[in-house]
Amino acid sequence: MDLEMDLENRLVSTDYLPEDDGDNPLRPRTLRDYIGQEKVKENLSVFIDAAKERREALDHVLLYGPPGLGKTTLAAIIANELGVNFRITSGPALERPGDLAAMLTNMEEGDVLFIDEIHRLPRTVEEILYPAMEDFAIDIINGKGQGASSIHLPLQKFTLIGATTRAGQLSAPLRDRFGVIMRLELYTPQELAKIVSRSARILDVPCEDEGALEIASRCRGTPRIANRMLKRVRDFAQVLNDGVIDKASARQALDRLEVDELGLDMVDRRMLEAMIRHYNGGPVGLETLAAMIGEEAVTIEDVYEPYLMQIGFISRTPRGRVVLPAAYAHLGMEPHGQTMF
Ligand code: ADE
Repeated sequence: MDLEMDLENRLVSTDYLPEDDGDNPLRPRTLRDYIGQEKVKENLSVFIDAAKERREALDHVLLYGPPGLGKTTLAAIIANELGVNFRITSGPALERPGDLAAMLTNMEEGDVLFIDEIHRLPRTVEEILYPAMEDFAIDIINGKGQGASSIHLPLQKFTLIGATTRAGQLSAPLRDRFGVIMRLELYTPQELAKIVSRSARILDVPCEDEGALEIASRCRGTPRIANRMLKRVRDFAQVLNDGVIDKASARQALDRLEVDELGLDMVDRRMLEAMIRHYNGGPVGLETLAAMIGEEAVTIEDVYEPYLMQIGFISRTPRGRVVLPAAYAHLGMEPHGQTMF
């Protein structure tokens, strides 16, 4: 099967690209400019105001949900709203306890430390995070055996913001040390259309409301995908339509990019078709599915499945993944793998 071919360059990938990072001008800097996630924003703004009024560090915050929804952006906004420094790292980057100790001892009072993919922290590092979060201190052990000594090092009070796609994979002791736990949801097409319109203004691209809505309905509920699509649609509009993104030029561009009306690309469609043709619609085990499209099981769970489940195309059962009727209808297929029409 040649399902692997498109994976590296999927338009609908939620992986970071260099353009997603750093001083990306599309990133909102304040809660006011951040569109969607209304409940999360309302609660956060209360916690931020309260902490500022008390002149205390904000309680530790855990943000979880599918990739590309703006967890890093939100963490940076929290630091900005608090008026403190924002330090950023990730679970896999913190290989040894010393890596984390170095960051913690350099923090000023009230600063935000953001750890992305916190579920991938090595165990030894996680263990020094416990006293750091709870008592604002770390214990550094020097030497081994009889001659070992330990130094108790107090830290400035700080706020840890952890982000993860999989809250269920965090150990209970780590999860319990977060005072605030918030889940980010996939965005509605209306919210995404606002995000696209805002991004188009910043990029100085003429974009009609209906053009924005067309991108919004094909980006799988995910701002990172919406902003990436906007840039590609802009290219088509520039060459084919005097640069204006309207409904027709957006449709044409996304059709040419082989992203269908629901935001599925070739990889999604072929995965579903293969499940139907070769496994009669399932149940198909996660590992079989992973082998089928040449991806890791966790990637399927984090990246592919949330949207396919949200739109009612597949479900998870104890015996594996099952294709649901809505997916057959969308693909123009019937149970047993025959093609209709
Ligand atoms: N860009 C990415 N996510 C965004 C959001 N939630 N609001 C505004 N712009 C964004």
